[in-house]
Amino acid sequence: MMPMTIRPIITVPNKILKQVSKPVDKVTDETRALMDDMLETMYAALGIGLAAIQIGVPLNIIVMDLAREDEEPMPQYFINPEILEMEDEHKPYEEGCLSVPEVFEDVDRSVRVNLKYLDYHGKEVTEWAEGLYAVCIQHEMDHLKGILFIDYLSRLKRNRAVKKVQKAEKLNTVNA
Ligand code: NI
Repeated sequence: MMPMTIRPIITVPNKILKQVSKPVDKVTDETRALMDDMLETMYAALGIGLAAIQIGVPLNIIVMDLAREDEEPMPQYFINPEILEMEDEHKPYEEGCLSVPEVFEDVDRSVRVNLKYLDYHGKEVTEWAEGLYAVCIQHEMDHLKGILFIDYLSRLKRNRAVKKVQKAEKLNTVNA
């Protein structure tokens, strides 16, 4: 087994997060090592989803684990995910993001999406996602386009969110 590394997570307002990620040409051991690091980083930060751009890698890669605390881990890996179809019905869900720590706001998302992606082994998968899975994959796929969940909020709420993150980071620096 390859040793896994916890990588620093980029937070707002870092411009890297606005970058548009690129498709992965070929799923290799290097891709898998990156996904292992992403998963480790996500677990360490107590997140349920992470896009590669959040650790500064502009590739269309997402990791996710929606298992509850009392369940076995259920890591999921998405390479070059595409939404083929989505239901018109939308619902608000309170979202958070490891790149916008400690901020939680409602975002409207489609309740059900049909997804196509390559898995950990580069095998193509097509399936429907609903519930938290649908919310999370739409949130993470936004990251690949440089979109954050706070971009859906009013300018006032968005600015407040960014300020909150900056203030918390400043305090952490002073305490370190
Ligand atoms: Ni996020």
